[in-house]
Amino acid sequence: MHISVIGSGYVGLVTAACFAEFGLQVTCMDQDPRRIAALESGEIPFYEPGLHDLVGKGRQAGRLTFTTNLTQAVEQALVIFIAVGTPPRDDGSVDLSAIEAVATGIGREMTSYKVIVTKSTVPVGTGRQVISWIESSLREPVRFDVVSNPEFLREGSAIEDFIRPNRVVLGAERDESVAILKDLYQPLYLIETPIVVTSLETAELIKYASNTFLATKISFINEMSVLCEQVGADVRLVAKAMGLDGRIGSKFLHAGPGYGGSCFPKDVDALVATGKEHRCEMGIAKAAVDANVRQKTRMVEKIRTALGDLNNKRIGVLGLSFKPNTSDIRESPSIAIIRLLLKEGAHIQAYDPEAMRETAQQLPELKLCSDSYEVSVDADAIVLATEWNQFRNLDLERIKTQLRTPIFIDLRNVYQPARMAKMGFQYWSIGRPSLPPA
Ligand code: UDX
Repeated sequence: MHISVIGSGYVGLVTAACFAEFGLQVTCMDQDPRRIAALESGEIPFYEPGLHDLVGKGRQAGRLTFTTNLTQAVEQALVIFIAVGTPPRDDGSVDLSAIEAVATGIGREMTSYKVIVTKSTVPVGTGRQVISWIESSLREPVRFDVVSNPEFLREGSAIEDFIRPNRVVLGAERDESVAILKDLYQPLYLIETPIVVTSLETAELIKYASNTFLATKISFINEMSVLCEQVGADVRLVAKAMGLDGRIGSKFLHAGPGYGGSCFPKDVDALVATGKEHRCEMGIAKAAVDANVRQKTRMVEKIRTALGDLNNKRIGVLGLSFKPNTSDIRESPSIAIIRLLLKEGAHIQAYDPEAMRETAQQLPELKLCSDSYEVSVDADAIVLATEWNQFRNLDLERIKTQLRTPIFIDLRNVYQPARMAKMGFQYWSIGRPSLPPA
């Protein structure tokens, strides 16, 4: 079967490469000629483990091709995935102009039956709008179906998430389109992936409900971490014991500097905005957002307390991306904290394995270091902001010798307080008592 994916961003490219891996003929279309030229020469515009090889494999097998031509992308495919950006507006609502432009374009080009699938995260009601945008741009009467098939990919493990998902959600109006979509996901039957078939509206809401619930879980444990610090409890053990209750589950209970990335912040805001539009108070979602904002300020307070004063202090920061295994710094807590520290007169020197280019563009005043160790040279403290694997086994003796004062602030609870104190560090972490150096 031939399918097309419109949009070669994160979701679009992963979707295209994985469906090609499933044996389908895939055309990936983007209106940006530079992006398509780069993809055609084997360049991937962002870092995602395994994606470079998977795109290369699909191209070599002749199953994955790139184009800027929408006519071609529509003509060839029975199924067209829309995976374009849905950026937030200032009020938290979602800007659907790219979806509208693509839907209208598809309608104009359609000459035979197509299934149009929204992969992008779109607010409830968008599927119906897509139907009317397509209908109003058709040049001749053509049958079509619209399906909502939200993606649940995590950056850094997107390919694994696509190939071995927990579930596939299909929101559709007619059985014919569901049968076609089920065919595309045929390889997942072998691993008995549940497929949830619902209405368009339900599918759209499932995505927001899932992301908001996960964000709330993180905000909950982050708030607990503050209480833990006050009463001398250990949030890691609180989370561990909570997680052993099968009704709660152990995932997404790691206390840290707050959630970031391109999905959680935007999706929780969008759910609040949708609630407002339908006069339905989303109080828990709002509280999760507020707690997340507070968490970042608290991290700065923690650093201030450790250092006494921030003005003119030199702080080494390990990790800039919003989480490990990605070059993405969108809504990264590390970047937000750095901005606040800079405002208070601190000098920052930082290192990240993949996100240096992106950070240099956004924060030119930052001193970027060539490795994990340069970050500690002559610094008053070191802050571990993103838990890349290579920061889990640092040569701590070397860091201690290079630091002006042995202050280690671990915002991801990577190290053990007792061991750090024994090594002579003033060690600060999240939701655990900070121990003085032994
Ligand atoms: C998320 C969803 O997991 C995914 O299903 C959806 O499609 C897109 O949004 P992603 O943004 O790639 O994926 O990252 P994720 O691994 O979910 O982490 C999001 C943020 O939460 C990161 O900033 C991470 O550091 C933080 N986090 C996660 C915590 O602070 N604690 C946790 O226990 C888990």
